[in-house]
Amino acid sequence: MKKFYLNRLTNLFSVRNKRSIRLFKPSLGNRELREVQKSFNASWVGLGPKVKIFEQAWSDYLGCNKAYALNSATAALHLSLKAFKFKPGKKVLLPSLTFASTASAVLYNNLIPVFVDCDVDNLSLELEDLKNKYDKDCVAIIPVHYTGHPCAMEKIIPWAKSKGLKVIEDCAHTAGSFYKGKRLGMWGDISCFSFEEKKLLTTGDGGMICSDDINLLKDIPPLRWVGIDKDTWKSAKSYVDDQKNTMHWYYEINELGYKYNMNDLSASIGIIQLKRLNYFLRKRTQIIERYLENLKNCPNLIPLVKYEPKTYSYQIFGIRTSFREQLMLYLKQNKIATGCHYTPLHQQPLFKTYKSSCPIIESQANKLITLPLHVDLSLKDIDFICDKIYQCLSKV
Ligand SMILES: Cc1ncc(COP(=O)(O)O)c(C=O)c1O
Repeated sequence: MKKFYLNRLTNLFSVRNKRSIRLFKPSLGNRELREVQKSFNASWVGLGPKVKIFEQAWSDYLGCNKAYALNSATAALHLSLKAFKFKPGKKVLLPSLTFASTASAVLYNNLIPVFVDCDVDNLSLELEDLKNKYDKDCVAIIPVHYTGHPCAMEKIIPWAKSKGLKVIEDCAHTAGSFYKGKRLGMWGDISCFSFEEKKLLTTGDGGMICSDDINLLKDIPPLRWVGIDKDTWKSAKSYVDDQKNTMHWYYEINELGYKYNMNDLSASIGIIQLKRLNYFLRKRTQIIERYLENLKNCPNLIPLVKYEPKTYSYQIFGIRTSFREQLMLYLKQNKIATGCHYTPLHQQPLFKTYKSSCPIIESQANKLITLPLHVDLSLKDIDFICDKIYQCLSKV
């Protein structure tokens, strides 16, 4: 506490240059550049050997049998639901408090989203509401580990099994934290990760679809490559091999596919980012611990979720306050970026037609503020941000 007040004083009297503090920022350096350079040197920048290396490294890290790299988690969510070949018009349960893609994937598959309310502590799937909204047309559930905080998977999985529901984990905000001894992403039938630039590790844009069930993912290679079940970089080798066979160019298209593959430039970045992931996670833990310590006696706010930074990794740090507008404006004036994750989807014009009552998230939505969280932030930056929050919220 003493330390906090000392830091506050230092911040008050120091002339801080008006450098703005970003909300999110990827950490990219020479190691990533050198790996990308290798792909330049090989003149292979599309779907190629680096994608395969990254997929293997990721599945080793997660401990799953199969992982395919795609251009986004949005693509991974789309293809996850597609893998089950659900009949159009069936329903999928998902939280209202999530990014658009979780629900878009449902619509891409001609399925119906059923928006579930969140629990007041962690803004994650509310189990009673989940059970109440289930009916016999529901075929799947997409738990989202919002901010990186785990959903109650030990309760969701047995319940889903008892109803015959498939479980797709939206792991866009996590990078494989352990929950009750098992990695997030290994609880459901399929899991989807995001490597978009704001995430725990990045490939620029990118995603991974993962499962222990190899059979479930068997159609992913053609589905991510416009329906063609042949790796271009492998077939390119056969164009000049010794075989007297002139059919090296031949392929068949048996189903409608998409252009969803990751490329070797992104995979090069991902290979290095995965090696640096533990360092990233340690830094995030330090930053969140500092936020929690500094803000624990700050009036008029609570943390966005019940953070446990020593146990889980988080992509989002935020708070809830009834004075959101004042605080956002004050931080903006001090060049500190803020955000809001998210407007509940059942209130978005596109999804309003899928009427759903979610009173808890409706009561919380206008209190949510996302604060800066990325590995280049120093603890001094965090003290400065907290000081500004304190100055604003102690006066309202
Ligand atoms: C919860 C959630 N799911 C899915 C996605 C989609 O990820 P991507 O940008 O890789 O498509 C995001 C992206 O922010 C997300 O936050």
